[in-house]
Amino acid sequence: MLDLILRRCALPTGGELVDIAVKDGRIAEVRPALEAQARDEIAVDGRLVTPSFVDSHFHMDSTLSYGLPRVNESGTLLEGIALWGELKPNLTGDAVKERARRLCRWSIARGTLAIRSHVDTSDPSLLAVRALLEVREEMKPWIDLQLVAFPQDGVLRLEGARDSLETALDLGVDVVGGIPHFERTMADGAESVRLLCEIAAERGLRVDMHCDESDDPLSRHVESLIYQTQRLGLHGRVAGSHLTSMHSMDNYYVSKLIPLIAEAGLHAIPNPLINITLQGRHDTYPKRRGMTRVKELMAAGVNVAFGHDCVMDPWYPLGSHDMLEVAHMGLHVGQMTGSAEMLACFDAVTTNGAKALGLDGYGLEPGCRADLVVLQCRNPIEALRLSPTRLYVIRGGRVIARTAPETTELTLGEASETVSFDF
Ligand code: FE2
Repeated sequence: MLDLILRRCALPTGGELVDIAVKDGRIAEVRPALEAQARDEIAVDGRLVTPSFVDSHFHMDSTLSYGLPRVNESGTLLEGIALWGELKPNLTGDAVKERARRLCRWSIARGTLAIRSHVDTSDPSLLAVRALLEVREEMKPWIDLQLVAFPQDGVLRLEGARDSLETALDLGVDVVGGIPHFERTMADGAESVRLLCEIAAERGLRVDMHCDESDDPLSRHVESLIYQTQRLGLHGRVAGSHLTSMHSMDNYYVSKLIPLIAEAGLHAIPNPLINITLQGRHDTYPKRRGMTRVKELMAAGVNVAFGHDCVMDPWYPLGSHDMLEVAHMGLHVGQMTGSAEMLACFDAVTTNGAKALGLDGYGLEPGCRADLVVLQCRNPIEALRLSPTRLYVIRGGRVIARTAPETTELTLGEASETVSFDF
């Protein structure tokens, strides 16, 4: 006996409607008009079923702290970093956990069941690291949290930062992070990339660095990251997050750089909501957008995954952790309105994210984990257009979130009518 059948599902790749059968937490079969019975059935009736959304870049330790101890009035990256510095001494483990749990609940409700979160390891007590390791274990039945040891104040710039980072990894943090552009010099930035990639190689871990998150056209840390990836044989296990300086780089240099990124199998993780609001702040007009060259990276075969980065924290006052909002912004900032380009933006918050994080069993094929979302729309482009209701969120074959379809009753004359945007 099967556990669950989703009847008449539209898949992100199109084609005819299929039934999806689930057994023991995994997808058992995917085919039209399946003749089988299950303990439970959901009539999807032509709506879109996608593997759950993936947020490839987030900051869970600072999330939902907006206004603590004050708001970022200039809205700049640097005031955000200063504000985070003011907040850090007053953090408590309980408050970090409470906010992280709340954020996870929002994520699950929006159909995101995997998040890679950077966590600041600069504080020698590693209060936030310990709190998020607890939350990672506590939430494991419902959502995959992957933690990145992130030396926010610079692994070389801040004394003792290397020891704290290594202790965080000893405690069980999953991925090695970095912030080379925040080190004192370009040489120190390159040295930090070498050091951190070697730590990752020794421990058999993945790497995800905040890299060249500036408008400086001469920032060159992604080049170092590529070099160390090649040198240490970390191919396919390294991500460059943000890469915003690529927006401003000389086109000739980028024509050399992008093939090198592809060759090293580097994953690129832009954060469209944050890049468009934080970059170009020193410009008058015209103002640069600051997001990295998504279209060109994808054309070269680079895996590009989008991250949310922030929700209501020192750097960003908005958000509800909806990855479709992220894809919508990425599409607009990258001018990706061609139909294949729009589908690529949907992939950037689903399959590409799973690749960047190295998630096992992600997808819609038999054998994959039954982590699925039923949306109130018919295809990925409608999903981007509407950011529709997540009707069902399914984890390991079990419905863990359910939302009623959105409809509006209009009364324009004598009679009332019901309007919904999906059909
Ligand atoms: Fe970030």
